[in-house]
Amino acid sequence: MRSSKRNIGTWITAGSLIIVLTLFVVFGPPTTTAKPPVQQPDISEAFTLDDWPMSKTAAFGRTVYEESCIGCHGDDGMGDGPASAFLDPLPRNFQNAKFKFRTTPTGKLPRIPDLVRTITRGLPGSSMPSFELMSDVKKKAVAAYVQHVSTFRKGRDEVARHMKKTGQTLEEVLASDINDIKAKVWKKRVSSLQPIAVPPSPKVTAKLLALGKKRYLGECNRCHGDTGRGDGISSYTLRDWKDQPIIARDFTTGVFRSGSKPEDIFIRMRTGLTGTPMPAIPGSDEEIWALAHFVLSLKDPEAYVNRVHSGGGLPGGHDDN
Ligand code: HEC
Ligand code: HEC
Repeated sequence: MRSSKRNIGTWITAGSLIIVLTLFVVFGPPTTTAKPPVQQPDISEAFTLDDWPMSKTAAFGRTVYEESCIGCHGDDGMGDGPASAFLDPLPRNFQNAKFKFRTTPTGKLPRIPDLVRTITRGLPGSSMPSFELMSDVKKKAVAAYVQHVSTFRKGRDEVARHMKKTGQTLEEVLASDINDIKAKVWKKRVSSLQPIAVPPSPKVTAKLLALGKKRYLGECNRCHGDTGRGDGISSYTLRDWKDQPIIARDFTTGVFRSGSKPEDIFIRMRTGLTGTPMPAIPGSDEEIWALAHFVLSLKDPEAYVNRVHSGGGLPGGHDDN
């Protein structure tokens, strides 16, 4: 009795297995689609920077670039000019589109005024020189060229996607739709860039500095150190996105790469330094101002507090560059 029941059970199980297998063979596994996906063409070698359409301003900027920047930032803006071998940190590779000093959110490109500001002031503490004497027209043009280079790889991806979608060859795209593709990338990556606003600083009081200190000792000291010397426990293990060692800034020197006014420090914290372990810092405007003033006070804590008490000189005037 028992064994015949078991036999029936076995037959039912085997039967359903056969049905499922047959379905599988006839229709394929349930998740795969019938058509194999069309491969996106690999144009990483074929599509070069020269193929990426350049505005007239950027083309003029290229001539400025050749005069003043190419030795460090390299022929194609990849940070590999002949002088780069001797530099630490390395000159920026603009094709990678990772910029530290912006007024735009983390991961976004910088706006023209952000770039003009970097070019005008240089980046103290690195070999990026200041081009203070360069005319505004040239600075804006070379900034436009930097933007041009930093959109190139997104453009190349978009061209490959377009080829896959339309079945066109690279030659056909270059002869017809390339300017539309450029306009699309530009609209998404550049024209839409919005600066993060810097609200006016609250009055700097001992209470504000104490608020800054409290947050600093909870979050920043592991990299920047308790007294701001850049010697926190994590500082010597930090790496940038290229896996190169990088250390947290020493605040006691008073040298900042991108400006040492309170509003410069405020915006650096709001945006973070893309490509480095320095994150964008969340918090209310008051907390970020408190941190900015506390960071600036670390160069000479007593003098900062005295200036606050005498009511003078803080914060510095706004710079529109
Ligand atoms: C002597 C070498 C040198 C020259 C010449 C030079 N740079 Fe740089 N540049 C650097 C270095 C080094 C860095 C990276 C600094 C860092 O990582 O903080 C840099 C970074 C930059 C950045 C990146 C800023 C950011 O937000 O990340 C821009 C933009 C830039 N340079 C533009 C230019 C332009 C435009 C010129 C020419 C007008 C120029 N540089 C000339 C060395 C140079
Ligand atoms: C995970 C480590 C880490 C933490 C946490 C961190 N930083 Fe940084 N910070 C860095 C590194 C690394 C740099 C230098 C990047 C470079 O050289 O490009 C830096 C740079 C800076 C700069 C210099 C900007 C300039 O123009 O030179 C400021 C200001 C700053 N940090 C403030 C803070 C404050 C305030 C906090 C806490 C709220 C904080 N950081 C938390 C790693 C960190």
